[in-house]
Amino acid sequence: MIHARGLARTYKTRRGDVDAVRGVDLDVDAGEIVGFLGPNGAGKTTTLRMLTTLLRPTRGEATVAGADLRRDPGAVRRRIGYVAQSGSTSGEARAGEEVVDHALLYGVERSVATARGRVLFEQLELDGLWDRKCSSLSGGQRRRLDIVTGLIHTPRLVFLDEPTTGLDPQARANLWTHVRGLRDERGSTVFLTTHYLDEADALCDRILVIDHGQIVAQGSPEELKQRVSGDAVLLSASQPTDVARIAAIAAQLPGADVPTVDGHLVEVRVPAGRTLLAGLLRSLDAEGIELAGVELRRPTLDDVFLTLTGRSLRDGESPAQPSEGAAA
Ligand SMILES: Nc1ncnc2c1ncn2[C@@H]1O[C@H](COP(=O)(O)OP(=O)(O)O)[C@@H](O)[C@H]1O
Ligand SMILES: [Mg+2]
Repeated sequence: MIHARGLARTYKTRRGDVDAVRGVDLDVDAGEIVGFLGPNGAGKTTTLRMLTTLLRPTRGEATVAGADLRRDPGAVRRRIGYVAQSGSTSGEARAGEEVVDHALLYGVERSVATARGRVLFEQLELDGLWDRKCSSLSGGQRRRLDIVTGLIHTPRLVFLDEPTTGLDPQARANLWTHVRGLRDERGSTVFLTTHYLDEADALCDRILVIDHGQIVAQGSPEELKQRVSGDAVLLSASQPTDVARIAAIAAQLPGADVPTVDGHLVEVRVPAGRTLLAGLLRSLDAEGIELAGVELRRPTLDDVFLTLTGRSLRDGESPAQPSEGAAA
């Protein structure tokens, strides 16, 4: 559905060139929900704007929904839906009008657009709001209206730029349900950007991690977590004198990192902790070592990001206080 090779964009600014995207390769299959995960300024919006023909790549090529990005941008545009980062619905227009106007731009007939719009309003829990002014809608309602607008011409491929930034946790969870519905009920392919780890984890079949304009990892949420960080096994000793022996036994687990010791606590990272735990406990028991506690901690996507980039994506992340950062 999307195949991009070497996609790059350099912005010319007064203070010099900004390499916002530095050669991105990506493939998205039909029916996938793929997330572009990265911190503010990573190049997510720039990539999305290139793939949607809104911005000319400096280098690279892509086919999007079966059409060549450079040779046939008109066909790309007709086949996709795009919901911009900040939301495009304006203040004074009526919600329903806004959606129908958008469909007219795509050559959809007014009666068809109205009928489809009414259905989408219902599906996205906007029923009763057709004649309301956009300015009087709540943040969550406006974001869902943006999504109706992106879908009104029934695109096979939908691009969503930070669909839930600025929404409260409940509105975010609702929107996730709707995005899944797009795929499950309409068979749409969804490509979305996010800087929320939980969003990428909960919603996406596959994640592309982008940092400084380059893809640094990709895979399903599970694959990423397993490949990059492994599980942490935390063993707390009953007897302080056992700590060194516990660490020595833990170090012999298949694929184990060098264990770290902190007081009574021994921590070791292994590729798949759950399958090793029973054997580990038996080995410790055979040595007559008693534990005060055992904990298995599954890796989070934040561990993944930290491992890949040395920085935490969680810095500044808070659904209650969304930050748009310096993204232009
Ligand atoms: N129009 C522009 N002119 C100059 N620099 C830009 C422009 N748009 C974005 N940038 C810069 O390009 C980089 C990537 O931005 P962007 O694609 O918006 O990132 P993201 O969407 O991941 O937050 C950032 O350093 C940003 O400041
Ligand atoms: Mg952005």
